[in-house]
Amino acid sequence: MSKPKVFLTRKWPRKAEEALGEIFDVTFNKNDTRLSKIEIAKAFAIHDAIAPTFGDNIDKSVIEFGFNGKGRIISNFGVGVDHIDLETCKTLNIPVTNTPDVLTDATAEIAILLMLMVARRALEGEKEIRENVWPGWHPTHLMGSLMNGKTLGIIGMGRIGQEVARKAFHAFKMRIVFYNRSIIKQDLGFPIKQVSSVLDVCRESDFVSIHCPGGKETLNILNAEAIAKMKKSSFIVNTARGDVLDEDAVSHALSKGLIAGVGLDVYKGEPKVNKKLLMAPNTVLLPHMGSATLETRNAMGNRVLVNLKQFFDNEKPTDQIHLF
Ligand code: DGY
Repeated sequence: MSKPKVFLTRKWPRKAEEALGEIFDVTFNKNDTRLSKIEIAKAFAIHDAIAPTFGDNIDKSVIEFGFNGKGRIISNFGVGVDHIDLETCKTLNIPVTNTPDVLTDATAEIAILLMLMVARRALEGEKEIRENVWPGWHPTHLMGSLMNGKTLGIIGMGRIGQEVARKAFHAFKMRIVFYNRSIIKQDLGFPIKQVSSVLDVCRESDFVSIHCPGGKETLNILNAEAIAKMKKSSFIVNTARGDVLDEDAVSHALSKGLIAGVGLDVYKGEPKVNKKLLMAPNTVLLPHMGSATLETRNAMGNRVLVNLKQFFDNEKPTDQIHLF
């Protein structure tokens, strides 16, 4: 029996590609070029499966074109699936899988890194060294804010939100408040307080970290009204999706000194970055590196492999997304 044909839209780490290639007939993107919608659609139509990732626009036209050919499953390399039109997948009964769990720690680490960098003014300090303008130690030099003992507000208490809370509680003795659409009943082993709105999170927190999924429902969930509730000494960190944060509102708040700083890993319309954000003071801006460790990316590849293997063995893939 011939092996199922799988198409990768982007390059993966070598080990992950090799493992996939042992089981399936894989078409790799050797040059790692960003593919157009038409290229992905045509590829989906002549493969049984595509493994897209963040940055690929898997819209209705791509899915329908693929499905009218050979395409049967979309196995995303990544946990977020807001770049895939799930409604169309549901209509055509195309399963979609993702790669949860394996990137939780890596993304949580980047959220903590951003909090530390922005609160402890790491970039300003580093710049002084490189530009040879360090005036030397003195009592008022580059004073920042402690994370230790402060209140961390989490928006979206899923796997990553919980892990950030865990690290913040155990490493920095932070008090945790959070907003989540559904009630969280499980005992995480440390105190957490659920509040009923994003505004309440903003009111109570010294650091606000966003961890909800992207998509229509969470567009600008952290907006001007919410930011206005924050203290002037508070910070925002976003490692979720650019769409969840109103970037104009946050840039305005920074330039007026209404909040203390912002650390971002994700942007609306990335890889382009809003000019207002680039001009705003007290920002740490990283290029969507949340899951960027070799261990994590290999594990993500392995998760795609397992999901596809299950599907072609006529089992339900572990990470099949429930399409409402
Ligand atoms: C994810 O997995 O959603 C990361 O943001 C990278 O795609």
